[in-house]
Amino acid sequence: MFGVFYDGLRVIIGGTWHKICIFNKKVVPLCRTMRECAFVRTKCGTKSTTAMKELEIKTKVTVCSQEELPVDLRELVETAKNKTQDAYCPYSHYHVGAAALLADGQVVTGANQENAAYPSGLCAERTTLFAANANNPTTPVVALAIACYTNEHFTADPASPCGACRQVMLETEHRFGVPMKVLLYGDRECYVFESAKDLLPVCFTSESLG
Ligand code: THU
Repeated sequence: MFGVFYDGLRVIIGGTWHKICIFNKKVVPLCRTMRECAFVRTKCGTKSTTAMKELEIKTKVTVCSQEELPVDLRELVETAKNKTQDAYCPYSHYHVGAAALLADGQVVTGANQENAAYPSGLCAERTTLFAANANNPTTPVVALAIACYTNEHFTADPASPCGACRQVMLETEHRFGVPMKVLLYGDRECYVFESAKDLLPVCFTSESLG
């Protein structure tokens, strides 16, 4: 059985180029037709010169207990834990507390604020960073601690900020040009990121706007 060939086109599949052809009125990679058609002379499978590649994105995080942290950060985490008590969360019952340490030593706190019109509420991280930045527009935030409390316990796993909060953390870090440590409290272990960027590696910043 022979088909009609048009073999001028190439496609890249998984980093390898393949010639494609029209075979029996269908578009197929040539390698699929090799066994069937004696007219095929071009072998597929040469590595593509267009640089299709896989990137592995790594994030560095220190895993530790609250007690292992240096005293200022240990206290910041304790403040975030205490702040969970001030969450207004009658709908989710998920209490989130946050504490921001500023470069001048001030600590600004916040907790999630829910609303009957759900999207009008705001996460703890953003209430905290917006308050810190609005009241101290020229003072960098050097660390942000976050803790979550639900079902009468702090979460065993480290708190995990939502995407919107990560974006706001990144903006805070970016506007001051100073890395902001992010401490995520968990009863079993804490995560410490040296920079907000580590939580959002492929990110959108003012530079993305051109
Ligand atoms: N929440 C935060 O405060 N921070 C986050 O990063 C994730 C979620 C709050 C929002 C809402 O009040 C409750 O947790 C449940 O989503």
